[in-house]
Amino acid sequence: MLPRFSGRAFLAPMAGVSDPALRLQCRRMGAALVVTEFTSIHSIVAKQEQLAGAGRTIREFLEYSDEERPLSVQLFGSDLEALAKAARIVEPYFDIIDYNMGCPAPHITSQMAGGALLQEADLTRQIFQTLTGAAGGRTPVTLKVRAGVTESDRFLFLEVARIAEDEGVEMITLHPRTVSQGYSGRADWDMIKMLKERSDVPVVGNGDVATPEDAKAMIDQTGCDYVMVGRGAMGNPFLFEQINDYLDTGSYSAYTLEDRLDAFFEYLRIAAKYRIRFANIKGQAMRFTKGLRNGAVMRSRITHSEGIDQLADVMSDGIRAACAAG
Ligand SMILES: Cc1cc2nc3c(=O)[nH]c(=O)nc-3n(C[C@H](O)[C@H](O)[C@H](O)COP(=O)(O)O)c2cc1C
Repeated sequence: MLPRFSGRAFLAPMAGVSDPALRLQCRRMGAALVVTEFTSIHSIVAKQEQLAGAGRTIREFLEYSDEERPLSVQLFGSDLEALAKAARIVEPYFDIIDYNMGCPAPHITSQMAGGALLQEADLTRQIFQTLTGAAGGRTPVTLKVRAGVTESDRFLFLEVARIAEDEGVEMITLHPRTVSQGYSGRADWDMIKMLKERSDVPVVGNGDVATPEDAKAMIDQTGCDYVMVGRGAMGNPFLFEQINDYLDTGSYSAYTLEDRLDAFFEYLRIAAKYRIRFANIKGQAMRFTKGLRNGAVMRSRITHSEGIDQLADVMSDGIRAACAAG
């Protein structure tokens, strides 16, 4: 059974972005569900072997804090044996196991994973059977899917969703772009409406929600149960509180540059507890400077910073300069 969600806005899985620190911030700011970056089933199996041999657990590889709950782990990969093993390894630790059928990156689709699976109905059925079987009814399995592979098969998600539901998948997130579209064009929200009309499980709409107004428009236009926010939440964990307030009351508070600075330093404090790559932390710093007047200068300084202390100085100087300039 799915956990009870405290609101209608979820944080999307984003490789290199939805690390445990950003997830926790978003959760504290009202994200009703947070999802790990997608993780290879093969790397989970390999890590488990290493860690278990040393008396340690997979939590050292898939880092998280209990404060993030409800927390979903996203898997990719289609080797059924590895999938069953990986699902059994993660199942005791996470509240949801999400399966990726959307990633358009060639290094993923070329290994028959992510978006490439949309054209493989039989394998898709076996994947969901394997996952729900391994999760044993204890941990719900959900799906995140793109619309199709190319323009000509852009309604493949309907068949995939039907198979997923048949096999016990309990919630479906649709990012209504095709694999070949990447991030170009607009997400076609009519497809979310189509899925909602045909589904017996909760539907999560995803794609191009960057403001509270977008979140409400998506819910109103599609009838989706939840919205999932990706790029709009980068460097902007405030968005969840704003969406929740807007859906509840029709208004929301703005955040200042100082709030952004505070949020970035909070990110750094949380990040220090995890093994997040410094390159990824710099990426987060860039995103927290989005929209600042002196953002281009700051981003160049961030790129060249060589450690957390230097990065923190760059951020303090830069954001204070931006605030002083009004
Ligand atoms: C940097 C980045 C990394 C992403 N990584 C993942 C991922 O690991 N798993 C996944 O299902 N989707 C991933 N996505 C896709 C997002 O979850 C989401 O579906 C997409 O960005 C559309 O939502 P948005 O318009 O709110 O950003 C990623 C997107 C971005 C921008």
